[in-house]
Amino acid sequence: MDSNTFKNILIDWYEDHKRDLPWRHTTDPYKIWLSEIILQQTRVVQGMSYYEAFVTNYPTVSDLADASEDDVLTLWKGLGYYSRARNLHYSAKYIMEYHEGKFPTEYKDVIALKGVGKYTAAAICSFAYKLNYPVVDGNVLRVITRLYGITDAIDTPAVVKQVYALSESLIDTDRPDQYNQAIMEFGAMQCTPKSPNCETCPFADICVARAEDIIDQIPYKAKKIKRKSRFFHYIIWEDSGQTLVQRREEKDIWQGLYQYPLIETDSSNELELADLSQNYKESTIVKMSVQKVSDVHMQKLTHRDIHTRFYHILVSDIQLVIKEDYFLVDQKKVPNFALPKVIDLYLSK
Ligand code: ADE
Repeated sequence: MDSNTFKNILIDWYEDHKRDLPWRHTTDPYKIWLSEIILQQTRVVQGMSYYEAFVTNYPTVSDLADASEDDVLTLWKGLGYYSRARNLHYSAKYIMEYHEGKFPTEYKDVIALKGVGKYTAAAICSFAYKLNYPVVDGNVLRVITRLYGITDAIDTPAVVKQVYALSESLIDTDRPDQYNQAIMEFGAMQCTPKSPNCETCPFADICVARAEDIIDQIPYKAKKIKRKSRFFHYIIWEDSGQTLVQRREEKDIWQGLYQYPLIETDSSNELELADLSQNYKESTIVKMSVQKVSDVHMQKLTHRDIHTRFYHILVSDIQLVIKEDYFLVDQKKVPNFALPKVIDLYLSK
């Protein structure tokens, strides 16, 4: 099949099957950018309410730039991977300062924004400006490698390059926006990772993976991610309805989020009372009683397993516990902060 036939069949399929999604009704690059960053983090159904919230609270780049980082992170709450939200905020301020508040219109300037990679730049430039940049995301990698029967590992630069080259030859240069939406939608709805709908596929006759009966072997991934564990112990100090929180300032996971005072160790073994002294000012003697120690809660991040325990400790004088980066808050207010998911879940139980 030539590329003309391919793109026509693909776009026809899209017109018949596309979902009505809010970001498909706009050519505003700012809103498309928001939607694409949100969709890197969550599924379409969940992403819709976040998209609406961001567009309502910050209808323009300048509104986002003017927001406080805390407010942006709070709106992002629940999506995880907060560096994406920080990059959005940073880039909005950058656009105000270096692009006179106007979203850049050239690919080179779009891809230069912090947090915008090749995929996102192609999505923004094709959807907003009809520029001819193919998107290559997980969906597209799957569709193309199956269609062409590419059995080499998709997590290698050579195969990614090959898929880009094929996509450049396949893209509809009159309708790059439609083509890009269509091929992603096709991957999401038709050529799905498990049990793709080959019976109703318009490319069933030309799909090499189907002809060779190797659909379940493509896309093939070579690398297994090496996982590491970290062990967090959060101390919920309590004195007359007040507790202590700190902001994660270091360049590490969850930067900018709030948490209870943390002790990190290299095992999930329960802390001893003596270990807690890391949490209070040196040479102070704190009268305390342990109210509760939680089970270990596990959160899986991309490369890390975070094992967390919570310790509720009643303390006679919370002032003695305060170190320079802690601050006192009403316990009831803690859920309002932008918190790591594991703390949010713990508090909502
Ligand atoms: N996933 C990433 N971008 C998308 C888009 N524009 N529409 C639907 N799903 C997506």
